[in-house]
Amino acid sequence: MPTARLTIDTAFRVGPVRRRTFGSFVEHLGRSVYSGIHDPGHPTADADGFRGDVIQLTKELGISTVRYPGGNFVSGYRWEDGVGPRDQRPARLDLAWHSTEPNTVGTDEFMRWATTTGVEPMMAVNLGTRGVQEALDLLEYCNVPGGTYWSDLRRANGAEVPYRVKMWCLGNEMDGPWQTGHKTAEEYGRLAAETARAMRQMQPDLELVVCGSSSSAMPTFGEWERVVLTEAYDQVDYISAHAYYWEEDGDLASFLGSAIDMDHFVASVAATADAVRARLKTSKRIHISFDEWNVWYQKRAESRPPTGDDWPVAPILLEDRYNVADAVVLGNLLISLLRNTDRVHAASLAQLVNVIAPMMTEPGGRVWKQTIFHPFALTSAHASGEVLRVALDSPSHETARFGETPTVDAVATWDEQAQELAVFVVNRSVTEDVRLEADLRAFPGLRVVDAVTLSNPDVHWAATADDDSSVGPRPNGTVTAADGHLAGVLPAVSWSMIRLAAA
Ligand code: AHR
Repeated sequence: MPTARLTIDTAFRVGPVRRRTFGSFVEHLGRSVYSGIHDPGHPTADADGFRGDVIQLTKELGISTVRYPGGNFVSGYRWEDGVGPRDQRPARLDLAWHSTEPNTVGTDEFMRWATTTGVEPMMAVNLGTRGVQEALDLLEYCNVPGGTYWSDLRRANGAEVPYRVKMWCLGNEMDGPWQTGHKTAEEYGRLAAETARAMRQMQPDLELVVCGSSSSAMPTFGEWERVVLTEAYDQVDYISAHAYYWEEDGDLASFLGSAIDMDHFVASVAATADAVRARLKTSKRIHISFDEWNVWYQKRAESRPPTGDDWPVAPILLEDRYNVADAVVLGNLLISLLRNTDRVHAASLAQLVNVIAPMMTEPGGRVWKQTIFHPFALTSAHASGEVLRVALDSPSHETARFGETPTVDAVATWDEQAQELAVFVVNRSVTEDVRLEADLRAFPGLRVVDAVTLSNPDVHWAATADDDSSVGPRPNGTVTAADGHLAGVLPAVSWSMIRLAAA
């Protein structure tokens, strides 16, 4: 059996584990809001119609921030439609998803949901069909205590205390020709800079995210970031990155290497931002908000919006079913996000419920967990303290997409206060188990308190409403640690978490 050797040491600190790495995303898209988080007829629904069972699973998933209300949806959204008496709210065409938006849920409802769920809201403004003024109006509505038109309207709508939203996205995927109001980098960079400047005139301490590329495969990737940051550098704190990893497409080995692309994406955006920094002769550093990432089966029929005269409310869209291999990839993408914690200061798993999501709902019925739920929930629960880069000597294998690919990938976190070490590790081989040997000489007294592995002989096994638990993370009895040395076996196509603590 091939062997992968890791060395883990507190000297290899990358930066803190950031709670915002474990964010998610709720867009007015398909059944994400309506019959996802919101289902007034559901037995667990609260006074606003929000499902208690979905809130419970969101907590169990360990979600920190939730980006709202889009996504492509936000680029045609009039936020004013979604506030005030519900019976007076207009229904509108949602051009992004060829749907009808009833506006039953809007800003105030979402903020109440976020409070109940214990997540930080991360708002996006419409820079597709709208601009500076509408962004200012929404900011005033959300964050100004009172005494002005929009803040008093919020109070009249029942929210006496301002929401004080800190993090704001300046539009969504404005580099994409599919985006309503799509712009060139120059056009968008100017608009983003002016919007940010005006928003800071109202509240200087906002954290603002300018749109980067919607994928590293965009023809404008790199140049888009350079131009946009040249315009907006002084006004913003983050640049966004979006990446979806495609269906396996008959090449499981390449698919399992998806995190290599994420690492490359982060390194490229950071390098571009730093080049602009050098040119502007500034000491300020721009960080990355990886605010859309997941596996997405884009070729499946339900990824295609309705057409023609059909403008349904909350149609079934992007309801991907995830298998074990998808969960291994997702766990590896989280390893990449953690490893890049020095540059990636926030991230949002796209999305939270029903739409390319870790949990699914039946209208009025059950909520269930997809395979990808597990690595996310366990990483969010147990990554804490400082991220440690691991020195890794891994066997490798050839993949069509990435050439020579390290078979094992890993990251560790060290919580000094709790004296707890967590190792997150994947075996990306399609066929071979790998022996793991780790040198823990910096942690001589630690013993294994928990070692779990997610794998299955059928890597295409996917959960359903009737069975979301017969495959999942299971104790890995091969893992042992003694005298600063850890050993165990990682099955082919697997994600594992090993936790060690002082005896
Ligand atoms: O998350 C689904 C969609 O993917 C979002 O609306 C858009 O921003 C991205 O292209």
